[in-house]
Amino acid sequence: MKTYAAKMSRRSLDNIMFRLICICLTLFSCCRETAQQEIELEEHERYQDIFPLTQSNFTTEVLDSEEAWIVIFHTGTFTMEWKKMAVALRGVVWVGMIDRREEKDLLRTLGYDMVKTPVARVYHSGHTGSDKRWTDVDSPLDARLHACNSVPDTLATVDDAGLQDFIYQSYASTPTRFPTVIITDEQPSCMLRAMANRYYAFFSFRTMINPSDKDLAIFGQPFKDFELPTIAVLVSKTKDKTDSMTFEAVLYNEDMMGNVNYVNLVKFLFAVNKQYRHTLPGESMAGKRGIVEMRDLLEVEKKRFQVNFLPPVQKAKKEGGLKFTTKVVKDEF
Ligand SMILES: *[C@@H]1O[C@H](CO)[C@@H](O)[C@H](O)[C@H]1NC(C)=O
Repeated sequence: MKTYAAKMSRRSLDNIMFRLICICLTLFSCCRETAQQEIELEEHERYQDIFPLTQSNFTTEVLDSEEAWIVIFHTGTFTMEWKKMAVALRGVVWVGMIDRREEKDLLRTLGYDMVKTPVARVYHSGHTGSDKRWTDVDSPLDARLHACNSVPDTLATVDDAGLQDFIYQSYASTPTRFPTVIITDEQPSCMLRAMANRYYAFFSFRTMINPSDKDLAIFGQPFKDFELPTIAVLVSKTKDKTDSMTFEAVLYNEDMMGNVNYVNLVKFLFAVNKQYRHTLPGESMAGKRGIVEMRDLLEVEKKRFQVNFLPPVQKAKKEGGLKFTTKVVKDEF
């Protein structure tokens, strides 16, 4: 009897072991799957929106930067509203955070008010060094307003009459800049101003705000079909400066490139520069890789988001109505 019982229990033990091994294997393979899935981050999760700031890098990152910074003071957590603000301002202004528990020395240097304990501080665009202007703020809305208002507006407008001068100036600089028209129905946003300030060495920006049909006629056809704001980069069909140049516009296309936001606009600019720089007259410097890839700017943007996978950019199709062979551009070249 004993041996039988022992045999039986031995058998059921084997059975249990076998089942356990099966369960382990199943768990293992399923865990492995989840682990693999977790490695692949969604694109938006790869963005760094809020940078930790410490005693060792606050001066170089914030004070020595000409750009606006929103610095959040926290003790381990902050509300979702701040995170949303950072995402909404992605690329437009820099957002950082200081851990109040860890960075006591830094807080002292900054003259942080330990009684009022403001939630955040906006360092304004423009100045650098220890006299960089700042404002303490308590809400994400205030932070956004102060930071955005400090981004300088360097965008002049252009109309059909001014177009020739505008193109001439763009082509006279080194490296040659792409004449680029931002077409909007309102004053250019903080995002557009930030973009124009950063990319001015490669693109010469002008705005057309609520353009008339006459202004738009240079693009051959009204812009009714397009969502505003949009960007039209003018590229010449021939490389030589002749007395009658023909231009076509490379237009930001929402269907192909997604919503108009800073990340997508910047990808568009990188793609245009890469694809069309060699078509520019003058000192295009298209032989220099650093220029064709806008490498210095790339390094800065890469801290915040990926700039690989550039969208294919195309000249507007003729039916799209953006070819202009206008009389406007004639004598100068
Ligand atoms: C500042 O230094 C911290 C700690 O090394 C680092 O995590 C953070 O990314 C740095 N901030 C910036 C803006 O580079």
